[in-house]
Amino acid sequence: MCCLPSMVGFLRVMLVVLCALFMFPELSHAKHERVTRHYKFNIKMQNVTRLCKTKSIVTVNGQFPGPRIIAREGDRLVIKVVNHVQHNVTIHWHGIRQIRSGWADGPAYITQCPIQRGQSYVYNFTVVGQRGTLWWHAHISWLRATLHGAIVILPKRHHPYPFTKPFKEVPIILGEWWNADTEAVINQATKTGLAPNVSDAHTINGLPGPLSNCSSKDTLKVKVKPGKTYLLRLINAALNDEMFFSIANHTLTVVESDAVYTKPFTTNTLLITPGQTTNVLLHTKPNPPNAKFAIAARPYATGPAAFDNATTTAILEYKHTAPSLSNTNNNLPLFKPPFPKFNDTVFAAKFNNRVRSLNSKKFPAKVPRTVDRRFFFTVGLGIKKCSKSEACQGPNNTRVAAAVNNVSFVMPNTALLQAHFFGNSKGVYSTDFPANPPVKFNYTGTPPKNIMVSSGTKVVVLKFNESVELVLQDTSIIGAESHPLHLHGFNFFIVGQGNGNFDPKKDPQKFNLVDPAERNTAGVPSGGWVAVRFLADNPGVWFMHCHLEVHTSWGLKMAWIVQDGERRNQKLPPPPSDLPKC
Ligand code: C2O
Ligand code: CU
Repeated sequence: MCCLPSMVGFLRVMLVVLCALFMFPELSHAKHERVTRHYKFNIKMQNVTRLCKTKSIVTVNGQFPGPRIIAREGDRLVIKVVNHVQHNVTIHWHGIRQIRSGWADGPAYITQCPIQRGQSYVYNFTVVGQRGTLWWHAHISWLRATLHGAIVILPKRHHPYPFTKPFKEVPIILGEWWNADTEAVINQATKTGLAPNVSDAHTINGLPGPLSNCSSKDTLKVKVKPGKTYLLRLINAALNDEMFFSIANHTLTVVESDAVYTKPFTTNTLLITPGQTTNVLLHTKPNPPNAKFAIAARPYATGPAAFDNATTTAILEYKHTAPSLSNTNNNLPLFKPPFPKFNDTVFAAKFNNRVRSLNSKKFPAKVPRTVDRRFFFTVGLGIKKCSKSEACQGPNNTRVAAAVNNVSFVMPNTALLQAHFFGNSKGVYSTDFPANPPVKFNYTGTPPKNIMVSSGTKVVVLKFNESVELVLQDTSIIGAESHPLHLHGFNFFIVGQGNGNFDPKKDPQKFNLVDPAERNTAGVPSGGWVAVRFLADNPGVWFMHCHLEVHTSWGLKMAWIVQDGERRNQKLPPPPSDLPKC
């Protein structure tokens, strides 16, 4: 009897604690350095209306954009993905290094077979040595159009940011919206061999904003207080468009890119390619101005094909302390930012050159100083013969293709990582991916007569801990174009970039081996080249591809196999028992 009141009290306290944990998952286990965080992703269809049209889209838990994942550096993430839809699905944790956890990386037919309807798979990995913003997305066909969300990696407890502590953090996810079903769009293009249709709008956090048809209600409002610092976590989740991003009458300070701290620099406009993420500080004006400001994004487009030129806008609104003014926000003028022209390659080069690793004592840039393996890859478009039965609509029954060193990658029917791990590569892949283009030509000049690509499932095999230097050279075949190349499993250092053809004698002398940007996605300049270095210290099979989905579909992809090292902790463990089967 005597215990009853205290029992009730205890339950009440427990309830409060549980509620607090539920509302602030980041606060749980406050005392421990390493936490395991569990998430459940139910892949299900959801009706969504944009541009006055309703369609059924594939979502995680019915949300679009999908749920945010929050972790601290060092935490383990355990994410159960259950597939309730007709489509095969995989999820990729874009930018997560996946050190010795390649089975959890996610690209379909590279590290795993897809999760079929009614099946599930638990992605289990630890966030090691990364802090900032990354993102997750579906990695099969074009499903990432609606299956994507933010990954927020906070620094370890008691490790402050190396910049002004923000008053608030705001995720900003740029995306593309199609009125049509995106799977139908790419299937149609694959059938005809022509370029797929472009999107109908761009979006910020899933909303197109007032400049798009029928969208004034679908506008994100970001309400800010004067005199504060906000951290915007920018993600470009668009399928096919690199984006300029700007906020009218405000300067932004870049402090992190692809979950690596950078030397802070200010700019009015950012360039962010699909696959890239970046954190910027926004210092709000000391006094609330009598205006609203557009947070806007529109494409950077250099290629020969049509693109969606729509501008997406959200609204930056100041909170007025005087209540009389707070209601008048609707009548305030809206300022819009100017943008570079759509194909401003000069802006792109200058901007990318300004992104530098912080390279502090605590966060050194560990650029490989020596090189064990050198590779020179051309990336670009071409054409491919179609079979009689395919009846493609390109000239003489051809289709548009894209290739790396003239190899257009053919997706295998089973996962490369499984084939590699169990020694069954025969009939799945070959290890003869060329280190150089099959023929030398003036890559950025007049294209050669024969622009036919070859096809294959070829990989490069690297020994554990080899350091790699890779030059990615754009070609002008069909048209020069910027290609955001993304490497799984690693960050690379962008040691050089330039216009025209890479000069192996002169250009390396100018390489930055001190504080180059460390990223997982690098823009190969339109009509130019970029040089990257990375250390192959992560055993597994790692996909590398253009993050413009249309180019990936056309074959602009390949894979690296990194062999196990000698030591126990240099080997890839066997796959989890629930790894999906093909
Ligand atoms: Cu963002 Cu291979 O992916
Ligand atoms: Cu590309």
